[in-house]
Amino acid sequence: MKALVGLDVGTTGVKALAITQAGEVVASAEEAYPLSTPRPGWSEQDPDDWVRAGERALARLDLDALRVGFSGQMHGLVCLDEQDRALRPAILWNDQRTGVECVEIEERVGLERLISLTGNRALPGFTAPKLLWLRRHEPEVYGRIRRITLPKDYVRFRLTGEWAIDAADASGTLLFDVARRRWSDDVLAALDVPREWLPPVHESTEIAGAGDQQAAALGVGVIEPGIVSVVLGTSGVVLAALPAYAHDPQARVHAFCHAVPDIWEAMGVMLNAAGSLRWFRDALAPAASFDELTAEAGRWSPGVEGLTFLPYLQGERTPHADPEARGSFTGLSLRHDRDALVRAVLEGVAYGLRDSLELLKELGVTPEKGRVSGGGARSPLWLEIVASVLGLPLELTVVEEGSAYGAAMLAGVAGGVFADGHEAVTACVRAREAVEPNADWASAYDEGYARFRALYPAIRGVEER
Ligand code: XUL
Repeated sequence: MKALVGLDVGTTGVKALAITQAGEVVASAEEAYPLSTPRPGWSEQDPDDWVRAGERALARLDLDALRVGFSGQMHGLVCLDEQDRALRPAILWNDQRTGVECVEIEERVGLERLISLTGNRALPGFTAPKLLWLRRHEPEVYGRIRRITLPKDYVRFRLTGEWAIDAADASGTLLFDVARRRWSDDVLAALDVPREWLPPVHESTEIAGAGDQQAAALGVGVIEPGIVSVVLGTSGVVLAALPAYAHDPQARVHAFCHAVPDIWEAMGVMLNAAGSLRWFRDALAPAASFDELTAEAGRWSPGVEGLTFLPYLQGERTPHADPEARGSFTGLSLRHDRDALVRAVLEGVAYGLRDSLELLKELGVTPEKGRVSGGGARSPLWLEIVASVLGLPLELTVVEEGSAYGAAMLAGVAGGVFADGHEAVTACVRAREAVEPNADWASAYDEGYARFRALYPAIRGVEER
C-alpha cells in the first residue's frame, strides 16, 4: 500500500511524515534551517532553504508516496520574478516591521469595510502589509514581482510545478474574502495589487494543503465546535471550528477558512508560546534540555509567589495587536531561582492562551475540551498548567505530529483514500489520555491571570521612555 505523506514547512525546520491509509505513522524525517533577524522585529528566511530541506526530508522517508500534502507557517510573503526565482528572503508571520503599513491599509480601505470584506484587520504578520512595505522600501524589488505566494505553496511549486493555494492559507493574506472563499477584488483594487500575481484558489481537500494551524486542527480532529485546538508551537494558538462564517466585530481573533470545505474557524494567535521557552533556554540556560528545564519548575507552587512573565518578546497579535509590545518578568524576589523563572514562562504563555479562549467565548464558542499539539505539549507540567489556566481538559492524540499529520490526511482526501475531511478524521484521529485542570490550582491561576491582564496596560510604552 502506498503511503500518504505530509510535509510541514515550519519556522524552525521542515517535517516530512508518512502514514498508512489507516493513519499509522510509518516514517518521519526533520531538517532544520536558520531564521534571520537582520533588524529588531524583522524575521526572514531563504525560501530555497525550505525547498532544499523539503527535498532532503522527503528523500529520507525513502518510500513510494500516493500523494504529498503540504502545510506550513502562514502569512509569509514570497515574491517571485519573471523566471520564478525568489526575489528576496521571505518576510515571515512573526515579522513586525509593517506597523505603518497596517495603519495605512486600515485608513485606505476603512477599518469596518476591511473587516466586512476579509473578516480580519491589518496585522503586521499578515501578507498584504508586507507587500506595501516592499513597495515603499524596496521599490526596485517590488517592480520585478511577477507572482507572490506563501511558504508551503512556494515549496509545492518548486517540487511539483503546481501553482496553487488553498482557501485556508489564503485567508491569512488579508487579500481574501474569507466568507466567500475567494480573492477579494475590492481589497486588491484598494491596495493596487495585481490579481494576476496570485495563485488560483482551491479547497484544502482538493489541493492537499493548508496553513499549519488549520492542518494541525484537522490532525487532532477539530472539525466541529465543542473541541478547540490548542497549539504549543513556536506560536501559541487556540482555534475553534465554526459551522458557518462568523467574525469578531473588532477582528480581535482571526476569521479564516477551515481546511474542510464549508467550515470556518476563529483563532487567537500569540507569537511566542514554545518560542518563549526556546528564548529562555537560548538566553539563560543554553546547555539545558527542555525536559531538564521544565522538570524542576514543578517544585514551585502555581502563581510562583507573584512572579509574572509577559510573553510579548516580538510584539503580540492576540489580544494586543501591538508590534511594539515587549516581554517582561515582574514580581521578582530574592527567593526566585531559575526554576521559578521557567515556571513563570510556562504560566505566562498559558495566560496568553486564555486571552484567546476568552475572545472565542465572546463569539459564542463553548468548548468542552481542547486537543493539544506542538512541541510544548511534550511537557506534562506545561499541559497541566495550560489545562488549569484554561479550565479545560486537554486531550492528547495517539499521533502527536500536528500539522504534518493533518497535511498527510489532506493528501489522503485529495488522493481519494478518504471521501472527505470528516472521514479522514474518523479513520485517523484517536484521542488518548486527557490532562484535567488541577482544582487545587484554580484560585492561584485566577489571581495570576488577573495580574497578567493588568500588567500589559500598566507597562505599555515604558520601554521607550
Ligand atoms: C498563524 C500564525 C502562526 C504560524 C506559525 O496565524 O501566524 O501560527 O502559522 O507557524
